[in-house]
Amino acid sequence: MNATMSLKKIEHYPVMLNQVLSIISPQHGGTFIDCTFGGGGYSQAILEFQGTKVFAIDRDKLTEKYANSLAKKFPKRFNFFQEKFSNLDKVIQQKLEPRAVIFDLGLSSFQLSDKERGFSFESKDFLNMEMGINEYSAYNVINTLDKEYLSTIIKVLGEEKDGKIIANKIDKHRKKKPIKNSQQLASIIKEAKKNYHNYKKNPATKTFQAIRMFVNKEITELMLGLIKATKLLSNGGMLIVVSFHSLEDRIVKNFFNLYSNLKKNPSRYLPIKEKKSSLFKLVSKKPLVADINEIKKNIRSRSAKLRYGVRNNDSFFYPEEFKNKFLNYFKLEGGRT
Ligand SMILES: C[S@@+](CC[C@H](N)C(=O)[O-])C[C@H]1O[C@@H](n2cnc3c(N)ncnc32)[C@H](O)[C@@H]1O
Repeated sequence: MNATMSLKKIEHYPVMLNQVLSIISPQHGGTFIDCTFGGGGYSQAILEFQGTKVFAIDRDKLTEKYANSLAKKFPKRFNFFQEKFSNLDKVIQQKLEPRAVIFDLGLSSFQLSDKERGFSFESKDFLNMEMGINEYSAYNVINTLDKEYLSTIIKVLGEEKDGKIIANKIDKHRKKKPIKNSQQLASIIKEAKKNYHNYKKNPATKTFQAIRMFVNKEITELMLGLIKATKLLSNGGMLIVVSFHSLEDRIVKNFFNLYSNLKKNPSRYLPIKEKKSSLFKLVSKKPLVADINEIKKNIRSRSAKLRYGVRNNDSFFYPEEFKNKFLNYFKLEGGRT
């Protein structure tokens, strides 16, 4: 079988699947780790190739039903763990030597369209936004978090310039009665952003992103996930990340740039005192994006960016510089409600 396959064979629509398959070449067999199982699109496509094994992880309990059906079809080659990928090292043994560790970040189409989860603007159910294994829900954050903290979260995680105005408006409403669902929240944000004129995007998009990220500690997850995946990979193993918004992509890009063969010497006038070891070999500093045919079929793929690196032979070292660079996000998500 060729490393690309018809998307029609898979009910669910996995973003940039053909690019992922052509990078990892599952036709040569081997072990793969799918850190974001979702509807199982990537896992299934890999398992269709003889001689492959997949260890899949997802924090969402509802993905178990897709995992169970794959486990039936490939009983000896598929394992699933309901876990957060920041705990990769708890469920995957260090000696596994996977050929690739893959992250396809964000929400699945199943989560987005499930009104009970509260991710969509129209949801009238409980303001939840939990992906699974959470400490608090969006309801707690919106109704109880300190106003200034809420404003910072919206500004920093949502990259929303009107964070303060929105937090003030939310505070005004919640003082009267608790904000119970996503539809109410979206209309309060719309009120706060009365000068918003981009008809392509809902005015609440960035705030919803921020709240969702905070509830699920998505930056912390991403940073720890990248570090633990790197530790797990041995020479020649690949780290592949598909991201969907600029903050996520900035983190992935920085991680690869800081620890790859393409890292620049800080100044050409300074002597290179010692050759700093790197962790990855990068083919390009530029991300891959979905092609026009895929975008036509699935509009969500329009914002996808795929970056990957190949682990080199240097021993693993803790990426301190990376952690420090994004420490403010890390700390922000550590705040308790
Ligand atoms: C975009 S979907 C993945 C879709 C998948 N590639 C497919 O082909 O069906 C992202 C999935 O990652 C899961 N997820 C997000 N963050 C996670 C984390 N920190 N740990 C484990 N799973 C996570 C979500 O629950 C969701 O099911």
